[in-house]
Amino acid sequence: MAEKKDLESLQEPVNALKGPSDEKTAEQIEKAAAASQKPMVTKEKVIGEDAESPKGPVGLDIGTSHVVVAQNKRNYIETIQELNAFFTVPSAKFAKGILNQKEVMYYEREDQYYIFGYSAESFANMFNVNTRRPMKDGFLSPNEEEGLSVIQAIVNTLIRKPKKFGEVLCFVIPGEPLDGTGSVVYHESVIKRFISSLGYSPLSINEGMAIVVSELSEDDFTGLGISMGGGMCNVCLSYLSFPVITYSIQMAGDYIDAMAGTAVGEPATKTKAIKEGELDLTQEPKDRVLTALNIFYDELIFKLLESLQRVLTSTENIPKIKAPIPIVLSGATAMPKGCKEKFENMLKNVSLPVQISTVRVAEDLLCTPAKGALIMAMTEAG
Ligand SMILES: Nc1ncnc2c1ncn2[C@@H]1O[C@H](COP(=O)(O)OP(=O)(O)OP(=O)(O)O)[C@@H](O)[C@H]1O
Ligand SMILES: [Mg+2]
Repeated sequence: MAEKKDLESLQEPVNALKGPSDEKTAEQIEKAAAASQKPMVTKEKVIGEDAESPKGPVGLDIGTSHVVVAQNKRNYIETIQELNAFFTVPSAKFAKGILNQKEVMYYEREDQYYIFGYSAESFANMFNVNTRRPMKDGFLSPNEEEGLSVIQAIVNTLIRKPKKFGEVLCFVIPGEPLDGTGSVVYHESVIKRFISSLGYSPLSINEGMAIVVSELSEDDFTGLGISMGGGMCNVCLSYLSFPVITYSIQMAGDYIDAMAGTAVGEPATKTKAIKEGELDLTQEPKDRVLTALNIFYDELIFKLLESLQRVLTSTENIPKIKAPIPIVLSGATAMPKGCKEKFENMLKNVSLPVQISTVRVAEDLLCTPAKGALIMAMTEAG
């Protein structure tokens, strides 16, 4: 079910970005708003180098495809990312030497090496199989017992315990799936425990809301934030920084890869590689795989817009927003050239109870949710 909040019943300070109650809060908010204007810089990860102990608040996005950490630096926002994937091979002393030499990230458990992150992808490609994934469709995978341990190992390569015990870390959580499965409560609680065990004060933010917080500071945090990721598309309608409606559909990049793969008889890893390397939605597709990818992009955007129409028209008490509101697209599935234009064209066929002013694309599609989480963490840190 889509989550709808009655504005009057919101007693919690959900709109942490608004209504400064004292000077200190006002200062925090100013700092956070200023941070949202900073450029983003991706830090290259050096395997074998120890992760940083953050000095200030942290934003963390554990997504179906990627894990991203964002930190506030003097003149920019620093992000660092890793692939949320793993691959197991039987352990052997001989192989261990090679793995250490090649600086592959792994840990050993019950006679298996768990190779994780981007290293897992290289291994899977070598064996011509798919990587295993700790998450499925936006949530901790019910099929992978070791999923959480892998996520912990990945996060530990990106950040260590904070310099100051109890530092605020805001992590991204998915919205309730409209028709699908998966428990936000379970997912959120498990991640929260892990983050607390690292010495942080955990705080969560809905993924669509994180897009709004990162991208709509100049629009009074009013608009639709949409994250098109690997496992799901997350949507949030925010009104003056209140997440009025949040929901997700469990269809996104992985769905496109799998459906296009099945249609043309290729493994999903292959269609994924072609999608990421070659797909241009402004061009006529020139082969079978590109045709299939185009068709499933159309289907995804159609389903996303259909869900938006369904949810917005069936929700009572949507605030009467007089001025047209912007839509911001983010998530790495919005990356191919022409995605925004496709979305805009298909939007013309949808009738929504709110008027849309523009469709924008976030600056850094992969890291925007982590940036939004960081800004939220900065407003909460005291
Ligand atoms: N250049 C590209 N073109 C098209 N798709 C891409 C590109 N780069 C990455 N992707 C796709 O983006 C998806 C991952 O997006 P993202 O990292 O935003 O998801 P996530 O946050 O990990 O997942 P979720 O939010 O669904 O839990 C994958 O399906 C990947 O194939
Ligand atoms: Mg995501």
